[in-house]
Amino acid sequence: MKPRIATLLNIKPEADNVVSFMFRYSQLGSKPGQFVMLWLPGIDQKPFSIAADNGKTFSVAVFKIKDFTEALFKLKPGANIGVTGPFGNPYTWKPRSHVIAVGGGYGSAPLAYLVNAAKVDHCTYEVLIGARHKKLLLYPTRFPKHTYLATDDGSAGYHGYVTALLEQRVSVLSAAQRKKTVLYVCGPELMEYAAATVAKKYGLPSQISIERYIKCGFGICGQCCVDDTGEPMCTVGPVISGKHALRLSEFGQYHRNKAGEMIEY
Ligand SMILES: Cc1cc2nc3c(=O)[nH]c(=O)nc-3n(C[C@H](O)[C@H](O)[C@H](O)COP(=O)(O)OP(=O)(O)OC[C@H]3O[C@@H](n4cnc5c(N)ncnc54)[C@H](O)[C@@H]3O)c2cc1C
Ligand code: FES
Repeated sequence: MKPRIATLLNIKPEADNVVSFMFRYSQLGSKPGQFVMLWLPGIDQKPFSIAADNGKTFSVAVFKIKDFTEALFKLKPGANIGVTGPFGNPYTWKPRSHVIAVGGGYGSAPLAYLVNAAKVDHCTYEVLIGARHKKLLLYPTRFPKHTYLATDDGSAGYHGYVTALLEQRVSVLSAAQRKKTVLYVCGPELMEYAAATVAKKYGLPSQISIERYIKCGFGICGQCCVDDTGEPMCTVGPVISGKHALRLSEFGQYHRNKAGEMIEY
């Protein structure tokens, strides 16, 4: 698949070291939970979850980490970038179901895309967002009256992990509400593991976005294969069910870097 050129239209600061980039790019044709590969010639190609796509533009929310993201942060509106995708397995929902979206880090980006799409299908929703402190919360005000915040240091919202807040919310759902509730999760893997465990405890279906080091993005190179099923997460995932995630021996335990070495969580 050849990269198509996208033009950077808008840059919006969101939180500490987090910026939304909006690109002009017609007919990406993505679904919530999928990702694009962004290519900066001479630097690298990296996966980013799609935060919004209206057929004319798409957006991603990026945390500045190192080489690639530092280079992205230097771009100015009008800059061109290579794009391939969309790739990967998306989130799915049923009309009129109850969506509980649980996000940490840039995980709120694909979840916002999901919630906006599910609203069109008359789903009810609540959005739980966690971060170490309030300046790291992504989209804390995007869904007024439906958002519950959690910070590790208590600087905003619930004082503690977002997964503890999740358990509070889930434990008060009536039996009828539970029947139509699905948990959607994207964030640091230990948070995802805890959320999948809450889902299992309360008998709720869950869909988790699993992040592994991605090179090709379409199932050819084997870089993102997980233990011990050997499935490539770029095509089988990134979104898989919580039940499926909990069957992977490496989920919540370790991931692999670009050299294939195991990095424990
Ligand atoms: C399916 C998928 C979707 C993704 N979506 C997004 C997204 O929406 N927004 C986004 O910002 N990133 C996203 N990423 C991560 C992104 O692709 C890059 O890996 C990340 O931005 C780091 O790239 P870099 O070149 O800046 O740093 P690198 O040079 O790759 O990393 C430098 C060091 O930082 C560590 N590191 C890498 N990522 C993180 C991290 N998230 N937190 C802490 N340390 C880290 C690495 O282990 C490495 O040691 C996604 C990844 C996947 C697989
Ligand atoms: S990144 Fe190549 S198989 Fe998934």
